[in-house]
Amino acid sequence: MPVDLLIHSAAQLLTVPGPGPQRGAAQREIGLLEDGAVAVAEGRIVAVGPAAELCQRLSAREMIDATGRVVLPGFVDAHTHAVFAGERAGEFEQRLAGASYLQIMAAGGGIMSTVRATRAASLEQLLAESRPRLDAMLAHGTTTAEVKTGYGLNTADELKMLAAIRRLDAEHPLALVPTFLGAHAIPSEYAGQADEYVAFVVEEMLPRAARYEERAMRYEGRGTEGASSLLPRTSSLIPRTSSLIPHPSSLFCDVFCEEGAFTLAQSRRILEAARRLGLGLKIHADEFTTLGGAALAAELGATSADHLAATPEDDLRKMAAAGTIAVLLPGTTFGLGQTHYADARRMIELGVPVALGSDLNPGTCWCESMPFIIALACRYLRLTPAEAIVAATRNAACASGVGDRVGGLEVGKQADIVILDLPDYRHLAYRFGTNPVQTVIKAGRVVVTNDV
Ligand code: NIG
Ligand code: FE
Repeated sequence: MPVDLLIHSAAQLLTVPGPGPQRGAAQREIGLLEDGAVAVAEGRIVAVGPAAELCQRLSAREMIDATGRVVLPGFVDAHTHAVFAGERAGEFEQRLAGASYLQIMAAGGGIMSTVRATRAASLEQLLAESRPRLDAMLAHGTTTAEVKTGYGLNTADELKMLAAIRRLDAEHPLALVPTFLGAHAIPSEYAGQADEYVAFVVEEMLPRAARYEERAMRYEGRGTEGASSLLPRTSSLIPRTSSLIPHPSSLFCDVFCEEGAFTLAQSRRILEAARRLGLGLKIHADEFTTLGGAALAAELGATSADHLAATPEDDLRKMAAAGTIAVLLPGTTFGLGQTHYADARRMIELGVPVALGSDLNPGTCWCESMPFIIALACRYLRLTPAEAIVAATRNAACASGVGDRVGGLEVGKQADIVILDLPDYRHLAYRFGTNPVQTVIKAGRVVVTNDV
């Protein structure tokens, strides 16, 4: 039986072995194979090994010669707000003139400005504005991304965002993992009534979001008509191409635990309610101020705590003990022009598994490129290139709840593969500002070729 695709003669093939998120010294294990090959059949990896052996043993319908190039798992972006309407270039300019992110937010701008634009957009507009970002992510080697809601902040618009995430996942090669972030900001209609808004999230929006996802999941297995019936009549669902392996079964719930957003007690209320509904948990913790969100994540058994630029060591120890993954977002610190980056070295020393995300959003970090995030992570988080690659593949997949399907080049895994036009994996971190990705393969299909 011939295989569908054989990528061979890679200068370096990185398998990024698992299982599970890698931590401590194992965070450096990239599984480097020189003159390596990987074979794909029916969307999955069926063999990985020395090129000489695989080329002799297998016949393939299609061959890709990766001579002089690096082959590695597709990047997983573990934290994005990729679905939104509008832009905030004006705020960027205000920040350059000295205003802080939290000041702009307190004055009714920031997240609420994007909420206004997203509420005003139809589902079709939201899709049209988001698609080019997904295209750019895919072109830069991201094959799976977590995407949060959080620019609706009322039931109809949060569900519209979930519908947009589902639609984009179905029609675009990039696979998306949805996260409900109804507690991203306190909407202006609840100004001064934060606890009332939290009650609304817990009692109304969160159960509705969970039900929506549950129904979407149930229908998904029956082909496209079922899922499309959940979506507004005007939309026609394009057959799902992003993944041959079923989508993760559960939605994540996230909270922005921060001064001016949600307190620790409010975050606990929301995450405990989400846990009762069986959702996976995430939290934006200690981005600017230390509120205890990382310790809460550990206590509740959250999958990840994200940002962690101001997390005390005690809380990091709690994360290590609980196995909570640190999703670090150096693009945000860079995007804000700040200098206080998360202490990733200490996290690795303490045994916290470190993952990377872009945090792609219109406020703090409009960046679609995981190679650029890796370049930042090596300089400012002081990760080694190998640690950063594990953080952007294996560990990011685990942080997104899909570590059993993607994130490594192993037999049985979905064939999400990137070929870099670089001779050595360290060049991925060393060089920046241009796109090193030559070919992207999603579930065994070539979806991007950046040949000039
Ligand atoms: O992760 N901090 C909260 N959320 C985003 C920013 C979202 C926005 O400003 O629109 C973040 O940085
Ligand atoms: Fe975020």
